[in-house]
Amino acid sequence: MVSEHTSSSPAQVLVASNRGPITYTLGEDGTLDAKRGGGGLVSGLSAVDDKLWVCAALGDGDREAVRRGVGEEGVRMLDIDAEVHADAYNGIANSVLWFVHHLLYQTPVEPVFDTEFRRQWAAYETYNRAFAEALAQEAGPGAAVLVQDYHLALVPGMLRELRPDLRIGHFSHTPWAPVDYFRLLPDDIAEQLLRGILGADRAAFLTRRWADAFIGCCTEILGGTGRTRIGVHGLGADADFLRRRSHEADVDERMAALREQVGEDRKTIVRVDRTELSKNIVRGLHAYRTLLETRPEWRERVVHIAFAYPSRQDLAVYRDYTAAVQTLATEINAAYGTESWTPVVLHVKDDFARSLAAYRLADVALVNPIRDGMNLVAKEVPVVSDHGCALVLSREAGAYEELGEDAIVVNPYDVTGTAEALHEALTMSGDERSGRTKRLAEAATALPPQRWFRDQLEALRQG
Ligand code: G6P
Repeated sequence: MVSEHTSSSPAQVLVASNRGPITYTLGEDGTLDAKRGGGGLVSGLSAVDDKLWVCAALGDGDREAVRRGVGEEGVRMLDIDAEVHADAYNGIANSVLWFVHHLLYQTPVEPVFDTEFRRQWAAYETYNRAFAEALAQEAGPGAAVLVQDYHLALVPGMLRELRPDLRIGHFSHTPWAPVDYFRLLPDDIAEQLLRGILGADRAAFLTRRWADAFIGCCTEILGGTGRTRIGVHGLGADADFLRRRSHEADVDERMAALREQVGEDRKTIVRVDRTELSKNIVRGLHAYRTLLETRPEWRERVVHIAFAYPSRQDLAVYRDYTAAVQTLATEINAAYGTESWTPVVLHVKDDFARSLAAYRLADVALVNPIRDGMNLVAKEVPVVSDHGCALVLSREAGAYEELGEDAIVVNPYDVTGTAEALHEALTMSGDERSGRTKRLAEAATALPPQRWFRDQLEALRQG
């Protein structure tokens, strides 16, 4: 089950995550095309030597790469049986654990923990065991292992049994559910998840709030957190990278194209998200429609640039959500659009350079998740913004703890309140906007990814 593609010598720093730093796609002519990913973990690890990243093969291209022995130094992809992976990733991680931590269930009818769930849970255990075994095999004596996220909650406990000499950390990139909601899970599963993470020497979270929720669950369900230390490390934006990247030629080109689409004198409200249930894109569009309804002075004078990139399309609920976003954008354009003005510009094809162009252009950024571990868009926009940008921010995003003072804060369920916040943001004076943007950028870059990772590593080694 586990690939034979191992590194040359035992590693001293190991990272484990479902999604790795590289993805392969298999061309029709049989060639493999490698694409590098971005994100906090990739940047955070860039300054660390002697490391190994253990991740799952996620599609046919990745699996083929493992079979052909194609790979990159410092990365080991696990070729876990495709059905086991689908049950663990789509079935448990994304349809149960993600839903629990983001409060996404429609509780009158779901969740239903039946025999199908138990079957998928067994796959989740198998999948976690494959990671624990690979890490046990690769780690040098006393090495530090940093296990990432809800996909791998059982790994710390399993790995401790196999290798008691290791320093094991677990990091949650999501929120953690409040205890009453966490208890939707069957009792034995809830206990197993908590004990799995408590197998780590240190369990860390993006904010104090999520750490406290985890402690609350452990206290109520298990009577405490045992010997595991709890840490908080708020991931910040990578200012150096963003400032450089956002001034490259492809970004300039896309800015010019967007500006033309929007019109010279119009204001812009920008959002950039994966099309993810927790991001609250539909209520964001409702709020924009309410703004046009209740404040007609904005008609013709503002454009909502909404980038909603594909995510988790194997799940029907995500496909339905994607359709709902597109339908609503079309409806708003049909109801309010004129020959010279398109109220919503929706793009669904992932394009990082275009996202940066929109950040630079934005007068207002809308970040209104139902719940979010951190939300890096809220932190990236103020860093990249050309002329200052007002931030409308959900109080349920982890970023709120650091950015709340200079953002216009909203309850993500309150559509009327969000529409009013958009109006306030659009009418903010240039000076105030610049001042706030500057302070937001400072707060957003306080803990760059390299430091975020190094701090975790040091804390783990010290314990
Ligand atoms: C969140 C999770 C990550 C995950 C990412 C993208 O940020 O915390 O672990 O990789 O979403 O989701 P995906 O299912 O595409 O990996």
